[in-house]
Amino acid sequence: MSKPLVSIVMGSSNDWEIMQQAARALQDFGITVDARGISAHRSPDLLVDDIKDMTAQGVQCFIAGAGGAAHLAGVIAGKTTLPVLGVPIPSKYLKGMDSLLSIVQMPKGIPVATFAIGEAGAANAGLFAVSMLALNDKKIADKLADYRKKQAEQIAATTLPALG
Ligand code: RP5
Repeated sequence: MSKPLVSIVMGSSNDWEIMQQAARALQDFGITVDARGISAHRSPDLLVDDIKDMTAQGVQCFIAGAGGAAHLAGVIAGKTTLPVLGVPIPSKYLKGMDSLLSIVQMPKGIPVATFAIGEAGAANAGLFAVSMLALNDKKIADKLADYRKKQAEQIAATTLPALG
């Protein structure tokens, strides 16, 4: 197994159902990821150790998914200068609006790139990381161009069902 290029961190193992979309998107391009559940508030020391460890291993960016008062991405961004991509996890009572606002409203100086709430956001965060890695890797860039082409071809080949 080659060394991970992307670290996917989530606030709880319960977030994996959503966050595996990010892992899958990257895996489809042959990119090795490290994925783990580490809470920013329940296990802050573990989080700091993990950021150091992942940075030492050479990851190019972090994808952080969290729900509720979702400070995980912001805390990671405060500890690294690598790009941090935040994914708001849907929450029980506010349906992820709390997560979205917690991640997107980072005060000036420590940016977090924020994606859509839920599966689409997780998948797009993975694809965005692919785009970043493609900047310095022609093989990944070619695969990405091919992926986009196939997606467009699929749309072009889709016909609407007959009137009911
Ligand atoms: C956040 O609190 C996690 O990201 C999760 O989305 C939410 C609930 O955590 P669990 O109670 O499911 O572990 O830290």
